[in-house]
Amino acid sequence: MDSNELRTRYLAFFEERGHTVVPSSSLVPAKDPTLLFANSGMVPFKDVFTGAEQKPYTRATSAQKCVRAGGKHNDLEEVGPSTRHHVFFEMLGNFSFGDYFKREAIAYAWDFSTRVLGLDPSRLWPTVNHVDDEAYDLWREVAGVPEDRLTRLGDEDNFWQMADVGPCGYNSEIFYDRGERYGCGKADCRPGCDCDRFWEYWNLVFMEFFQDENGVRTPLPKTNVDTGLGFERTLAILQGAESNYETDLFEPIIARIQALTGHSDEQRKREYIAYRVIADHSRAISFLIADGVLPGNEGRSYVLRRIVRRAIRYGRRLGLDGPFLSDTTAAVIEKMGGHYTELVERRQVIVDTVRREEEHFARTLSRVGWPSWTS
Ligand code: SER
Repeated sequence: MDSNELRTRYLAFFEERGHTVVPSSSLVPAKDPTLLFANSGMVPFKDVFTGAEQKPYTRATSAQKCVRAGGKHNDLEEVGPSTRHHVFFEMLGNFSFGDYFKREAIAYAWDFSTRVLGLDPSRLWPTVNHVDDEAYDLWREVAGVPEDRLTRLGDEDNFWQMADVGPCGYNSEIFYDRGERYGCGKADCRPGCDCDRFWEYWNLVFMEFFQDENGVRTPLPKTNVDTGLGFERTLAILQGAESNYETDLFEPIIARIQALTGHSDEQRKREYIAYRVIADHSRAISFLIADGVLPGNEGRSYVLRRIVRRAIRYGRRLGLDGPFLSDTTAAVIEKMGGHYTELVERRQVIVDTVRREEEHFARTLSRVGWPSWTS
């Protein structure tokens, strides 16, 4: 299954089950000063969960563009060493606004995972919040998961909040067991362990509280569901890849970097951290500029500037001394512009903006050298 097929089949599965397919919102959240970027699929529906906004539907599904940099959820420094974290990623989601709750959310996720994706049920390890007996029992009853593959975790793992203020709730995650050879070998290695054996690919949030500025939680008017399936991770699982970067989604971007460096496959493998950073950041840069963010010194613009500069720094490690981001962002536009047409519409702005920013940064560097934060 390639990336386009995974996205299409997910949306179709939920559409067949009464969900309205909603296009991704902009990465820049509308009228929301509490949030820098859309950081998950539920962001465009935040006011629907709180009851402040009504929609003509109670079930929705989407493939949402997300950026996790500079806010509560910030993965910038993870990108490179990590096999599966990104600044920019897509989240596939299904949502219930006061419609179905835990039982159906678990049944849908199990059905899609085992029947549509064809994942081996014995490799799926759900987790639940340690106080959520209801979800624990449902995993047993609805999905037939044996107790030894169910893990109870605390709030640090199984309670989800969009931001310090906003809707939130207990969650249940599904982990995929990639096999012992990826593991740390410890006797108690299981979901929640830091090693690379168990990959969390789907998060089911049972959204039922609102948290205010003082951290006080009150029940939302209705119980809701917000699930997020990690698109790139799931693709890596389906394609048996060592990391998200060895999938059809990243391959053309990585190949473009390799063409620029002239590296052999051996060298490319050795320099995998820099390749990952440039590929990930080229995606983030393309999508942020397409959504109207320009590099600058404050807020969102500053986060974009840091992403560009981090990419340039890793480019230098590969010997890319001149501007290269207009090439790598062009590869992103080619790969992803079919589904995300804004990339094609704003191609010229993207390419011109990165070129200007690279030139600007080269002048700064020649005057003052590398700033301390570019580790
Ligand atoms: N909001 C949850 C997450 O981001 C599920 O979509 O993981």
